[in-house]
Amino acid sequence: VPYTTFKNEALTDFSAEENKTAMHAALARVREGFGRKYPIIIGSEKLFLEEEIISVNPGNVDEVVGTVSKGSTNLAEKAMQTALATFETWKKVAPAERAAYLFKAAELMRERKHEFSSYLVYESGKNWVEADADTAEAIDFLEFYGREMLRLSQTSVHQPLTKVEGDDNQITYIPLGVGIIISPFNFPLAIMAGTTVAAIVSGNTVILKPADATPVIAAKFVGLMEEVGLPAGVLNYLPGDGIEVGEYLVEHPKTRFISFTGSRAVGCRIYERAAKVQKGQIWLKRVIAEMGGKDGVVVDETADLDAAAAAIVASAYGYQGQKCSAGSRAIIVESVYDEVVKKVVELTKNLTIGLPEENYAIGPVIDKKSFEKIMGYIAIGKTEGNLLTGGERSKGNGFYIEPTIFADVNPQARIMQEEIFGPVLAIAKAADWQEAIDIYNNTEYGLTGAYHSKDASRIDYAHENMHCGNLYINKKCTGALVGANPFGGFNMSGTDSKAGGFDYLLLFTQAKLTSRKK
Ligand code: NAD
Ligand code: ALA
Repeated sequence: VPYTTFKNEALTDFSAEENKTAMHAALARVREGFGRKYPIIIGSEKLFLEEEIISVNPGNVDEVVGTVSKGSTNLAEKAMQTALATFETWKKVAPAERAAYLFKAAELMRERKHEFSSYLVYESGKNWVEADADTAEAIDFLEFYGREMLRLSQTSVHQPLTKVEGDDNQITYIPLGVGIIISPFNFPLAIMAGTTVAAIVSGNTVILKPADATPVIAAKFVGLMEEVGLPAGVLNYLPGDGIEVGEYLVEHPKTRFISFTGSRAVGCRIYERAAKVQKGQIWLKRVIAEMGGKDGVVVDETADLDAAAAAIVASAYGYQGQKCSAGSRAIIVESVYDEVVKKVVELTKNLTIGLPEENYAIGPVIDKKSFEKIMGYIAIGKTEGNLLTGGERSKGNGFYIEPTIFADVNPQARIMQEEIFGPVLAIAKAADWQEAIDIYNNTEYGLTGAYHSKDASRIDYAHENMHCGNLYINKKCTGALVGANPFGGFNMSGTDSKAGGFDYLLLFTQAKLTSRKK
């Protein structure tokens, strides 16, 4: 496979009858498998334990999607020993052979696309379009990182070295060792799979600890990697408590790197704990921590106001606002403020709420804890802004919340500063476009942002001055495309890595230089 041939996976058009029928059929098939039990996988062993994590459908909490065995520190140690032993053989497997597992997995996932998306619908509460995008992104990561490993292994392409008379110099990117992959619930296929395969294809072995709310989709992915023949022990699957299992592995002296995606609080804690050199540890651990966001859409008076309002709504409420990239703030200049706010409210009121499997625009939030946290922020919002729509629980046998808008919010207010991770939008008014950008930058995060304008010089200014990892002009601030929009943020949004980018695999490798006398 030439590394130059990457193309993004096309999204499914669900307005076409045949695609609708196929998705309904996949949803029905997946439903038949509800309640299945999934084991911990360490090397070639499959361990069914009494202690389990029960994965429920957040859209209908009476339904159990599946149960997975729950890991302990003993099993974390066993997984570490297995991953360490397997590293000795896996690191010697040629890059092209490692990449081939990813290409095969992409092919199978593409064939079973709607089945994977159905698990996302039931387990994470995504509607069809959001689930389809998550599956497409997972396929993209498999295809992209496979090719990236090929590129990285052709060292003359990746990093041509200065020629020196009489020397033959060569640089090789070798793997690090055992990595711990800790993933979030909100892209439970794409981010879980992407972070896992980036590490594996680079020659590392891993222990994957999926998010507590979405372990079944992770088990399905691990099953797929087994099916394509990935050697046992390369990818070990260990669901479990973040503190018990996660911290044990973060602190383990044999852990070489941690690839974490999740909240700021947990990311900071992992960063701190990983920094301590443990007895017997002979390296400094590498930590990749991709964390939260307080992203925003800025609109000036020259913008296409209909398009800007649509972008605000799509950014704020896609997957119920549970994206690190979610545009939970909108900053609008005074002269068009009322007009844009009116359009945003109208579009928001049109959003239908209901079961993800029935493909409503808005579904449930992930669990009770999130529901309570979001409702807590809505209570705070009622004291900090003018509630224009929403603000209540919505009907349904799950964690449904109305899409909520607070206007006239002070830039310093908590709902303008803290990540809520739910369908709550805070809108602030700015005197002019420059003040709007200042308000946008008034955050400890720095993940995504959008600027809406027709003025080329202001767009240039936004390009230079809006401090975020992913800036979009006249677009929404969600939906980064692998390869085209490498994704990752600044400041408290993380360690500045770019998932789906051309320097990503460097994070999972170390460069070795060999200089031979000719
Ligand atoms: P979370 O931090 O609650 O959990 C993430 C993972 O960390 C889970 O697997 C969890 O079990 C584990 N964990 C919890 N405590 C731990 C500990 N002490 N040590 C080790 N592991 C521990 O996050 P979440 O609720 O699953 O995901 C939502 C968060 O993720 C949001 O803040 C969102 O912005 C962020 N996120 C960021 C990106 C990005 O690329 N920057 C992408 C997706 C999500
Ligand atoms: N990569 C996801 C997005 O851009 C988080 O929305």
